[in-house]
Amino acid sequence: GKVREIYEIDQDTLLMVATDRISAYDFILDSPIPDKGRILTAMSDFFFAALDVPNHLAGPADDPRIPESVLGRAQVCRKLDMLPFECVVRGYLTGSGLKEYRNTGEVCGVELPEGLTEASKLPEPIFTPATKAEIGDHDENVPFSRVVNDLGAERAEELRRASIEIYTRAAEIAAEHGIILADTKFEFGLDAEGTLVLADEVLTPDSSRYWPLDSYEVGKVQPSFDKQYVRNWLTGTKSGWDPADGTPPPELPGSVLEATRERYVEAYERISGKRFADWIGTCSDR
Ligand SMILES: Nc1ncnc2c1ncn2[C@@H]1O[C@H](COP(=O)(O)OP(=O)(O)OP(=O)(O)O)[C@@H](O)[C@H]1O
Ligand SMILES: [Mg+2]
Repeated sequence: GKVREIYEIDQDTLLMVATDRISAYDFILDSPIPDKGRILTAMSDFFFAALDVPNHLAGPADDPRIPESVLGRAQVCRKLDMLPFECVVRGYLTGSGLKEYRNTGEVCGVELPEGLTEASKLPEPIFTPATKAEIGDHDENVPFSRVVNDLGAERAEELRRASIEIYTRAAEIAAEHGIILADTKFEFGLDAEGTLVLADEVLTPDSSRYWPLDSYEVGKVQPSFDKQYVRNWLTGTKSGWDPADGTPPPELPGSVLEATRERYVEAYERISGKRFADWIGTCSDR
């Protein structure tokens, strides 16, 4: 992965490690965000616990199988038979969804009302699956019928229902704290019994678009809760960089790294109602 690393603990068990790397404009930046891996791990952990669905966690945050060097940014997981779809749910229209809507009036075969625009709230959350792209490529949106074809109608319906339910619950939690969960991506796997299990990372800013509610304005590209300082600096005059010219972005100044770290901490603390310092505490007195 680009920002995470996966290790095999044994035949049935994986160690998923989140790094401090950050991506922007399809580049992995040279400058890591201090604590990003730990904050995203804490966020995933919070949502796995808050959601009432089977998940892949196979041990606590301070599991003895986690090496000291990655404590706080690693999760011990059951190795599952992963289903080959990125289960995207959108409550708002933006990104590849908006692009498809503008071309066809639909997203992944879901017909939408006319007159929607950038950041429009959808009448109800929609399931817009994608297939995983080869490295370096973008995921490809596919119609629900493709999921039915590959997995059978029953499993496909189960996937759609679970995805929308989890999105809806998570969006409620975020909304209570003044944050819009615009869209998110889940990955599911099957355990040995064939039970659908929520896997990968969940509801982190890397797998989700979070927008500040107080500045929400339909018709405009919304600021990103976590990456906006990074994007503003990179596209501003001081960076001397043009996202269109194909060269990798320059290093970020320390002030931008620090401000971005603060945004990640704020997102975690607001949404979960927990303190990031306590997460570090849980893991450090093993
Ligand atoms: N419980 C699990 N069992 C088996 N595989 C899993 C489990 N949870 C997640 N995975 C898989 O582990 C991989 C996580 O990799 P990661 O997200 O770091 O990289 P990637 O998906 O290849 O690239 P990207 O950076 O684009 O996300 C994915 O292929 C995901 O499907
Ligand atoms: Mg991935």
